[in-house]
Amino acid sequence: MSIAEKFSLKGKRALITGSTRGIGRAIADAFAECGAEVLVSSRKAEAVEATVAAIRAAGGLAREFPLHVGSSQGIESLVRQLDDEGLEVDILVNNAATNPIYGSLADTELSAWNKILEVNLTGPFLLSNALGQRMSARGRGCIINVTSAGALKPGDGLGAYCVSKAALITLTRVLAKELGPQRVRVNALACGLVETDMSSTLFANKKIYDDIVGQCALGRHALPEEMATAAVFLASEAGSYVNGEVLIADGGTVI
Ligand SMILES: NC(=O)c1ccc[n+]([C@@H]2O[C@H](COP(=O)([O-])OP(=O)(O)OC[C@H]3O[C@@H](n4cnc5c(N)ncnc54)[C@H](OP(=O)(O)O)[C@@H]3O)[C@@H](O)[C@H]2O)c1
Repeated sequence: MSIAEKFSLKGKRALITGSTRGIGRAIADAFAECGAEVLVSSRKAEAVEATVAAIRAAGGLAREFPLHVGSSQGIESLVRQLDDEGLEVDILVNNAATNPIYGSLADTELSAWNKILEVNLTGPFLLSNALGQRMSARGRGCIINVTSAGALKPGDGLGAYCVSKAALITLTRVLAKELGPQRVRVNALACGLVETDMSSTLFANKKIYDDIVGQCALGRHALPEEMATAAVFLASEAGSYVNGEVLIADGGTVI
């Protein structure tokens, strides 16, 4: 197999949560370009439909799977639908996340804390368990959890979000140990500051933006495509011996 072939995702099927915009969308586009069939997912059916249409128009393979990852019932019914349609998932990317507050932990209401953990941690836990067991039974598969450099070096005002992303790294390591013997690899991708809707409030405040970029050795923010290529490495044969790892794509911030 050539090096280029090792980066191919031809014949693979990938479910990517939150793949209608931002980093998840870039991952969906990249995976489709590398030959995977992409199961596009987010809360909004119209956005999912538009993304699937765009991927198909570009010559890729895609299907619609709307899902709110904060809903355990939604996850159960999606997994049932996959089983009913006989669709095996080779790659799961737990990308969707939320961060409804900017402030200290002292100012964080229990409802916000619960919502953050539900979407950022419980959703990935439930999806990884359900699809990870199916991957284990087949003796192959790959899970990527999209986390943040903030999990390793908490950003000001992002406390609860950073806690959830740190827990996601531990979830990654536990799953890697539990599923590794069945040839299922589980890794985390820790993103630095990436220009998306989610980070728009950080971009809008010059002081906060300059402070974050000032801590980055490359002295700039990233584009979603720069996260997507890292995800291709982790998902493909190119990353075949990488397991339980955190790939930090933050331009040299956590150093
Ligand atoms: N941007 C950054 O600087 C940055 C830095 C570090 C880590 N990250 C991580 O990167 C990942 C993607 O973030 P992003 O910046 O690309 O965000 P984004 O641009 O806001 O996109 C979020 C995506 O997730 C979907 N989504 C939101 N809540 C959802 C839910 N409860 N269930 C299912 N889908 C949901 C959105 O679509 P709908 O609204 O239609 O549901 C959208 O497709 C997240 O895990 C985030 O924590 C981002």
